[in-house]
Amino acid sequence: MKFFVDTADLKEIKELAATGLLDGVTTNPSLVAKSGCASFVDLIKEICSIVSGPVSAEVGATDFDTMLEEGRFLAKLAKNIAVKVPLTPAGLKVCKSLSEDGVMVNVTLCFSAAQAILAAKAGATFVSPFVGRLDDIGQNGMQLIADICQIYSNYPEFKTEVLVASVRHPQHVVQAAQIGAHVATIPPKIIMQLFGHPNTDKGLAQFVEDWKKCGQKILP
Ligand code: G3P
Repeated sequence: MKFFVDTADLKEIKELAATGLLDGVTTNPSLVAKSGCASFVDLIKEICSIVSGPVSAEVGATDFDTMLEEGRFLAKLAKNIAVKVPLTPAGLKVCKSLSEDGVMVNVTLCFSAAQAILAAKAGATFVSPFVGRLDDIGQNGMQLIADICQIYSNYPEFKTEVLVASVRHPQHVVQAAQIGAHVATIPPKIIMQLFGHPNTDKGLAQFVEDWKKCGQKILP
């Protein structure tokens, strides 16, 4: 499963890229606003220079003509740009046009299997179902992921990858992997939580203590 990080914070992206675990980045207008960046275009260019995998940059408009113009502009910023468009009739028209031009497209704000079918038919590279926001209203976000993956597996012509988004905790990542989702986009804090287990810390402390008792060295 590919790990994307869900942030527009350059420091966080640089730190996680250094782990070698990062396969891409997703941003959205809320994350960009939170980053406090002075220039969205410069921010996206820098992210694309740090991470070689797909970097999602979302259009700002909602009408077809402007989203298409914005998408074409964003696509020219770097070869690893994935243009993010909302799952609306206009957004999927833009998706079809851009994908036919060979541009990666991430269709975002997906909340149903019906929407995911439309995204695949529109040639999306990725579809982003928001599991956390469904859980937040008492629905079953991970069941949506299972439904979409099952539907997509029925149609070899569907090339769209399921990009699990709105991840709230490590179990969302594990469950997404158990289902077989292609990608999870994970907030930096949750990526770091994936590492943690008290038994690992306890066991390592014991190894360190016992190694010291050996009084030996590995290096000459
Ligand atoms: O970036 C898309 C998605 O991951 C947003 O998640 O936490 O705002 O529901 P969240």
